Amino acid sequence: GFYYEEGHDDLLFMDQTSVKLIIERLSSPPTPFVLYSLNQFRQNIDKYQNELHKLAPIRGRLSYSMKANYNPRLLTILKSAKAMLTTVSGGEMQLALSAGFEPSSIIYNGNGKTDESIQMAIDSGVLLNVDSLFDLEVILHYARQLNKIANVLIRVNPNLSDSNVHAYNVTASKTSKFGTNIDELEPIYKLIEQNDDKWIRLFGFHCHLGSTISNTQIISGCVKKLIELFNTKRFPHLRILNIGGGLNIDYKRYAKRTKNDDEEHIAIPTIGDYIQSIKDSIESFPHSIELVVEPGRSLIANSCVLITRVLGQKQTGSIRQLIVDASMTECIRPALYQAYHHIDTVNSLSTEERILFDIVGPVCESGDFLGKQRCLPKILKRGDFLAVFDVGAYCSSMSSNYNMRPRPAEYALDEQEQIQILKKRETNEDLLRTYCVA
Ligand code: LLP
Repeated sequence: GFYYEEGHDDLLFMDQTSVKLIIERLSSPPTPFVLYSLNQFRQNIDKYQNELHKLAPIRGRLSYSMKANYNPRLLTILKSAKAMLTTVSGGEMQLALSAGFEPSSIIYNGNGKTDESIQMAIDSGVLLNVDSLFDLEVILHYARQLNKIANVLIRVNPNLSDSNVHAYNVTASKTSKFGTNIDELEPIYKLIEQNDDKWIRLFGFHCHLGSTISNTQIISGCVKKLIELFNTKRFPHLRILNIGGGLNIDYKRYAKRTKNDDEEHIAIPTIGDYIQSIKDSIESFPHSIELVVEPGRSLIANSCVLITRVLGQKQTGSIRQLIVDASMTECIRPALYQAYHHIDTVNSLSTEERILFDIVGPVCESGDFLGKQRCLPKILKRGDFLAVFDVGAYCSSMSSNYNMRPRPAEYALDEQEQIQILKKRETNEDLLRTYCVA
């Protein structure tokens, strides 16, 4: 993972290597770029799997939510760890299949699925989440046409949410656009019953309570609500209970270092706490049930940093602006959700006086900032490197080419600590490739 080694002049380290050394070895790399600690990612997977083992005799399964970051290198690691994948589009599903995942280890979820992706899922045997009655009708139509059985879960909406979650990340309120409310399931049940074992098999239920959850009580509440759905005797194949993802990570864990002490700090449950809250509510489960969790953020977020160069400083009224070459096109979370990403130095400036800056990008939007009122060395100047932390989830996968900015390169270190490139930086030609010039 990433840490500051105090004995080492306060340099930022990735695993055993200082980021300063990695930058030197890349010899004046274009910035911004992303650095992956694949070790951190492997540790996060191990942590989940070890905790899930404790649910025995219930089988606990890990399904990585690919939307968080679909870099194919991550899928290789997940495959050797025997994880499942949750996908949300034909593109993600196809990538999962071509990475060699068993179709029965792939879940395809979505409130609006295309004809092509539904056919792909049924044809290959991927597990589909039925989101609504209309979704079920289309799935049945294609099952008949392909003369195959569709394997499905129903995405239910248990009407639970964590009050600390940004409105854009709430997914299970009564009026959410995802899933079907538990008290509105009957038409779906009826239609499945009419076609059960002929065109469709109902394997279980799915829900997702939202993202950046720090309240484990709603997790146990949800598990209890969902298990009641298994009491029905109408469906012989029921065995999967998928409670989605959503666990937050402690984005502010480094904040002490920069003495931003006024930052409010909510305690974030660990992966262990999270699985324990599930364990507490499954005592009475039939042992045949498989419990699936599908985290994205808590598997990958803390495994990446974004390295950016300072372009300059300026004063605008009362605000000291620090302009860097990274922006909302690589990390949109601050602009979109006022999300906190820690930002700090790469090189040793530990004895320097620190002052408050707004850290902003060059993109033509006032919403383009990476951090507000952050304590950083006063002497920062053009060319100095900074790290934006915890960009592994929903940064690369949500990046854009706004202002004709190329998406950044992504690097990791291999077992021998040699630099490995995981993704090339886009060129201007890449950006223009799909335009048709008359
Ligand atoms: N399962 C389902 C059905 C989901 O919709 C999601 C995320 C997950 C699992 C994984 O949730 P996680 O463990 O990563 O919280 N762009 C937002 C997050 C959107 C999450 C969408 N659904 C952000 O940057 O905070």
